[in-house]
Amino acid sequence: MESDKRARVEAWLRYGADLELGPYYRDRVSSNVVAQTAQAPGSQSTEPRQSPIAAAARSASASSSFGLSPTTPGVTAAARSSVVAPFAQAPSLFEASERIAGDTLQLIRETMGDCTRCKLHKARTNIVFGVGSMKAELVFVGEGPGHDEDIKGEPFVGRAGKLLTQMIEAMGLRREDVYICNVVKCRPPENRLPEKDEITTCSPFLFRQIDVIRPKVICCLGSCASQTLLQTTQGISRFRGEWFDFRGSKLIATYHPAYLLRNPNAKGEVWKDLQKVMTVLGLQPKRK
Ligand code: URA
Repeated sequence: MESDKRARVEAWLRYGADLELGPYYRDRVSSNVVAQTAQAPGSQSTEPRQSPIAAAARSASASSSFGLSPTTPGVTAAARSSVVAPFAQAPSLFEASERIAGDTLQLIRETMGDCTRCKLHKARTNIVFGVGSMKAELVFVGEGPGHDEDIKGEPFVGRAGKLLTQMIEAMGLRREDVYICNVVKCRPPENRLPEKDEITTCSPFLFRQIDVIRPKVICCLGSCASQTLLQTTQGISRFRGEWFDFRGSKLIATYHPAYLLRNPNAKGEVWKDLQKVMTVLGLQPKRK
């Protein structure tokens, strides 16, 4: 019995080591990860939990790296059981985006220039950098520009964008009160998903945008944004509506407005997520 348990724990630790999570999280656990408080799924707590991967690291490999055991208090069962491999890449997206002293949105845009760093530049009309207030307390992050955004050079101006604008207004805000941007700044051909190399190349600009704005809340719209910022490959439905920490901002993921256009029944779930955001920001819903 005892040896069974030992074998299981050893397999668990090997799993963490195989993923090379130990050194990765030992190096960044203090700056990027906040202490996690136990939170039942769907509870109203606004305390951030760790990203699924950070939780994985703590539970899987931390026993060797951090002196924690797989049953460390404060790591929720949900987080432990939802372990998946992060994007395998070196250096990580986080390491590629340490805070830059004196950085500004203008500087980031200038650095981007007439970007040809990835293949998305070939078919784009405009770089879609981002729009809104540089003092925004709330940043929405989408996936990448579509046709209308590519033509106009502004994020979320097509059908999904109109729905996002309605969502923002329902929260008692105006579009210009928030900041809106995407993981990739150039339109993927035929609106396909951005590919891993494109995300890896472009996302450091997103991290810089977030670092400059330092919003209270980041709301990830859809899988691409949430998986990129949380460094996970888990499906969004596993962690949607839960709070995470992202470099000092609270991060919540919800469904993408384009998904809502196809699945209007999910609007209620998204509204619940937005209400959580409103609670954190002290917002009242718009009166009709
Ligand atoms: N979808 C996105 O993810 N971003 C946009 O800017 C438009 C549609």
